[in-house]
Amino acid sequence: MSDSKPIEALNALEAEALAAAESAPDAEALEAVRVTYLGRSEGRISVILRGLGQLPAEDRPAVGQRANQVKAALAAVLEARAGALSGPAVESGLDLTMPGRPRWQGGLHPITQAIDEIWHIFRDLGFARARGPEADTEWYNFEALNTPLDHPAADEQDTLYLVDSVLLRSHTSPVQMRTMEANEPPIRIIAPGWVYRRDTYDATHTPAFMQIEGLVIDEDITFIDFKATLAEFARRYWGPDTQIRFRPSFFPFTEPSAEVDVKRVIRRPDGTQYETDWLEIMGSGMVDPNVIANAGYDPERYTGWAFGMGPGRIAMLKHGVDDLRTFFENDVRFLGQFAQ
Ligand code: PHE
Repeated sequence: MSDSKPIEALNALEAEALAAAESAPDAEALEAVRVTYLGRSEGRISVILRGLGQLPAEDRPAVGQRANQVKAALAAVLEARAGALSGPAVESGLDLTMPGRPRWQGGLHPITQAIDEIWHIFRDLGFARARGPEADTEWYNFEALNTPLDHPAADEQDTLYLVDSVLLRSHTSPVQMRTMEANEPPIRIIAPGWVYRRDTYDATHTPAFMQIEGLVIDEDITFIDFKATLAEFARRYWGPDTQIRFRPSFFPFTEPSAEVDVKRVIRRPDGTQYETDWLEIMGSGMVDPNVIANAGYDPERYTGWAFGMGPGRIAMLKHGVDDLRTFFENDVRFLGQFAQ
């Protein structure tokens, strides 16, 4: 007498397998169904077919036949379902004409962009990039730069002291001395970085801001080198019609010292143009011989010039921004307008 149990088991297996294949939500799930039932070694139908030898001889043909039917039925459903899944997605409720969702894209901060552009111009003129620590000593921040500690800039009113004679640098000029100590002339460097002052937080001041230091030291460097280099920089950064002017000033570490202003020509879309006011962009001067001597160089042999400019201010001018704080409050709706 033949046993009908294996046949019943195959009937149940078929119903289960076909239902799974028909409802597979995607190609990956469909493949999992195929492996579960038809997989060569562990697939449930394959296992039954391999086990035929253990059945009573009279049951083998019927069970074998039924197993092969289930296998063929499942293969057909798998194929049909695969076709449906790769067909037009509209059928599964997706609208293929729906526009893509724009991807959120980051961008460089406008002050970072200004620093990069300025640095690249000087790099093309033969300058290297340098850096120094943000926490530095009174010696590097003041004394080495010919600034006595009783100078108002060294006062606790203006400078953020950490411990004893260690402070947060109030300008990038300490990088001048650190670079000269670590190298031999000639020196041509650009050193961007954060500086800190005990300033109020308002439209034109922040207690932490960026500066870019420039320093050139070599034999036979004169004020003419400085003027020519600066004029070339201004033309490359603001356009060929840009003018620069030097106003006498004072810094303890430069002699003579000058403040540099630029006047730009702005072209309107209708072709007319106008000149801006003179805008101050930096403090500068010929490096004081005392500073050159403090670096261990011979001040009779070497001369040079230096400047410190504010890329935050330059970015404000460039983009017509009138409140410096907007650059630091990190509202992406504001900053995103400048992303490149
Ligand atoms: N360190 C000066 C400042 O912070 C700027 C400066 C740099 C002036 C180099 C002359 C030479 O105001």
